[in-house]
Amino acid sequence: MLQGKKIVVGITGGIAAYKIPLLVRLLKKEGAEVKVVMTDFAKSFVTPLTLATVSGEPVLSEFFNKDDGTWNSHVELGLWADALILAPLTANTMAKMAHGIADNFLLTVILSSRCPVFVAPTMDLDMFQHRVTQENLQKLIELGYHYIAPGEGFLASGLEGPGRMKEPEELFQFLKDYFEEDEFLKGKRVMVSAGPTQEPFDAVRYIGNRSSGKMGIALAKALAKKGAHVDLVLGPVSEDAQFPGITVYPVETAAEMAVACTKLFSGADLGIMAAAVADFTPVQTTGSKIKKEAGFHNIEVKATEDILAGLGKAKQPGQLLIGFALETDDEVENARKKLERKNLDMIVLNSLKDVGAGFGTNTNKISVLKKDGALHNYDLKSKDAVAEDILSEIRSLMEEKA
Ligand code: CTP
Repeated sequence: MLQGKKIVVGITGGIAAYKIPLLVRLLKKEGAEVKVVMTDFAKSFVTPLTLATVSGEPVLSEFFNKDDGTWNSHVELGLWADALILAPLTANTMAKMAHGIADNFLLTVILSSRCPVFVAPTMDLDMFQHRVTQENLQKLIELGYHYIAPGEGFLASGLEGPGRMKEPEELFQFLKDYFEEDEFLKGKRVMVSAGPTQEPFDAVRYIGNRSSGKMGIALAKALAKKGAHVDLVLGPVSEDAQFPGITVYPVETAAEMAVACTKLFSGADLGIMAAAVADFTPVQTTGSKIKKEAGFHNIEVKATEDILAGLGKAKQPGQLLIGFALETDDEVENARKKLERKNLDMIVLNSLKDVGAGFGTNTNKISVLKKDGALHNYDLKSKDAVAEDILSEIRSLMEEKA
């Protein structure tokens, strides 16, 4: 997977830097080209000589070579890389990254890169949990950086808790999984719904919700990247959903969404209802604009069709069906009831109690419940990274079914 891949390993000044030569060796053994960039402080924890020896390349820290004046181009290096991994990443460098500060060579390489950037923050417990560190981390996640959460355990300070860098083997596996090129959904047809629905009660007004469609669209793209043909039934959103392998079916109301989803699911291997379907729709709607003198005191509503429950009833033995649940109380219990009631194979739970999860954000925090009772809790991640996690759950569902 990593054969020929160009990886920049960025090291900042944390004690875990002493473990990074092992990561470089693992990458080299797998056939990757590795260039190491270090901050000055990182050199106190591991020597450039060690890293130059294991990578087979000079280690870079300065903008130019003081002996002969040759220029180390941060722009070229940023463009050269297929991936950047920053491990260990200190609170200091993380704060600078979150604010676009570029006062050393490593930071300019990061700003010049166009490739995926993996960040493995490592620091002491209280520094990690400090609000400002968490805010900076949140910002990086929103910017699309791939977050490799620190493990819990015994820290160099003697404290115990989160902050410990993942072991080099785990960092290596993270990169390997990312570059894994497999199209396990090739030839599969998937129906995905995303976005809100809008239920009009006059020519200009509607009952709706704040769903941005980001999660469902990220999922549709991740599925298409793995070779699936995705039929995306999409409520009114501003997010761009055009992507090779995705056919978009724009809809507005729950009733329109029901028709499209039911039809497309009948020919699909897998259905995923990520849409935030309105639960109520006005009994009456008029083609003209209601004047305010007429009053809006009574907008009579009726329940919309539960699309997912309908798909659950129609589900054939060869098909898989996945739903989402947005809960505020007794989250797991309520999600489990939905999974059973709607005859699902899996349900993805968002709790509105989690900061950074749910509508409109670029991040999400999910738990996944399966029909067999399995429950997996995931960390807060970018919606793209969450889509990857959902994808790996889908993979295991399909393997269990095969
Ligand atoms: N859903 C649907 N049709 C509806 C309402 C919801 O297909 N009319 C789907 C959603 O796309 C989601 C799942 O059902 O996959 C759960 O949605 P959620 O709003 O969490 O639950 P509800 O069934 O609407 O129940 P409640 O609002 O009471 O929690």
